[in-house]
Amino acid sequence: MELKNTKHYDDETLKRWIEDESLTDRLNNKADAIRREIYGNKVFVRGLIEFSNICKNDCYYCGIRKSNDKVERYRLSEEDILACADLGYKLGYRTFVLQGGEDGHFTDDMFVDIVKKIKNLHDDVAITLSLGERSYDSYKRLFEAGADRYLLRQETSDKDHYSKLHPETMSFERRRQALRDLKEIGFQVGGGFMVGSPYQRTEDIIKDLRFLEELEPAMIGIGPYMTQHDTPFRNFPNGSFEMTLRLVSILRILFPYALIPATTALGTINPLGRERGLQAGANVLMPNLSPTMVREKYSLYDNKICTGDEAAECRACLELRIKNAGYEIVTDRGDVITYDKNTRKYS
Ligand code: 5AD
Ligand code: FES
Repeated sequence: MELKNTKHYDDETLKRWIEDESLTDRLNNKADAIRREIYGNKVFVRGLIEFSNICKNDCYYCGIRKSNDKVERYRLSEEDILACADLGYKLGYRTFVLQGGEDGHFTDDMFVDIVKKIKNLHDDVAITLSLGERSYDSYKRLFEAGADRYLLRQETSDKDHYSKLHPETMSFERRRQALRDLKEIGFQVGGGFMVGSPYQRTEDIIKDLRFLEELEPAMIGIGPYMTQHDTPFRNFPNGSFEMTLRLVSILRILFPYALIPATTALGTINPLGRERGLQAGANVLMPNLSPTMVREKYSLYDNKICTGDEAAECRACLELRIKNAGYEIVTDRGDVITYDKNTRKYS
């Protein structure tokens, strides 16, 4: 099995795969076979630490957008973040994802300090950052401090569509440049988009796939768009579960080597969504490690799972679910297969 698929799939083929309901099973099976050849039945887990829901941006789809005054805002201290990582390490996580809104309170120095402290305590963990858009120099400092990966979804690869999802203060070009900067600096980069976001057309999704082919990211995260009742998009329906599953499979076929999560949004739109995501070609899960008191405040969309009483149990819960679905969680950094962690270079 080739790690990189060199075949070209024309727009017509991709359109059919994206739109045709009758193809779901076939695409899912093909993708599952590819992931098994490359990654076996292994599932990598990442402990997700949602460190702040304060954000200077105002994306129309997002529940923690600046203008939403219904959200109770919070910010974890450095001590809280380190405690989450410590607990996560004991639970068997070897990757931590620090994800937050674009909260100006956190300077480069603060993130550098947090990254170094986690790395000093545990030399066998990877750190993924998901902090939004920052300057080239900022990204470089974070990489030099030891951060390994960076998640930044492009959200859409069509400029007009981008401007329908975001206010004018946000720039389509800046987002794409940020992804290219991250890649050039040496991060394992994660792009991605929402499936069924308002105004999205099939051709926009095809553009996303083309952009990803050019970027060659290590990770690709997609989930259905989910309505959030306090956003300007409150009247738009959720994205389609089945279409998201087909797209997970399309991603696995186009990017055999990639780390593809079965996302929380997929688990929210359907109670077995994460299991179905794995069966459709995904190989990563990102259970929540944030302190239970803050979890429901990080509501990007309505009815998000793992925010209630069950929240402390994610690791055990997932372990069982994954086993039942025929996969195995491993205690491992889970780097992308094309990456050498010693030289920090891709092959
Ligand atoms: N529904 C689904 N996904 C969302 N995101 C933000 N808001 C929503 C929503 N309402 C996704 C975006 C962002 C990621 C952190 O969460 O794609 O990049
Ligand atoms: Fe969070 Fe099941 S994964 S409770």
